Amino acid sequence: MKNIFLIGFMGTGKSTVARYLNKKFAMEIIEMDELIVKREGKSIPDIFAERGEEYFRDLETKLLTEIQKMENVVVSCGGGAALREENVQIMKQSGHIVLLAARPETILERVKRDDSRPLLKGRKNVKEIGALMESRREKYEAAADLIICVDGKSAEQIGKEILRK
Ligand code: S3P
Repeated sequence: MKNIFLIGFMGTGKSTVARYLNKKFAMEIIEMDELIVKREGKSIPDIFAERGEEYFRDLETKLLTEIQKMENVVVSCGGGAALREENVQIMKQSGHIVLLAARPETILERVKRDDSRPLLKGRKNVKEIGALMESRREKYEAAADLIICVDGKSAEQIGKEILRK
């Protein structure tokens, strides 16, 4: 079976949906952010602060190249992973790309008490989240084989919708 790559903005529930698919359908799970943090021995804010965003983006590309050789894996991608065309091509070669989409209000609700995302620092309001989301929308949608709107849905509903479609 092919892999499933969950892409989308921060806070759309990629990790939660991946865990659901992992439990219910025995798909192996890869949480990109978590694996990068483990390998680097540093938090994401520390990687961004000490090495810069580009370094982090290169780690994402390297990790996706490794995942490309795997099968039956559900991958919870970092929110920026699908913004690089090279990464999208790597994902397409080994699986289906599913975009989780949400309203900025939903995102704000989910990220407001979380400080692990450097790109949202000082931007935790609907206007700025909406603007960042809008600046990424074209690339996200172009990458996606399937788009699922997650507003008001549980991980179970989303997981079932992905498998049905
Ligand atoms: C990022 C999303 C984060 C993490 C990093 C950058 C982004 O992952 O990779 O903070 O550029 O959207 P999540 O989408 O899992 O929060």
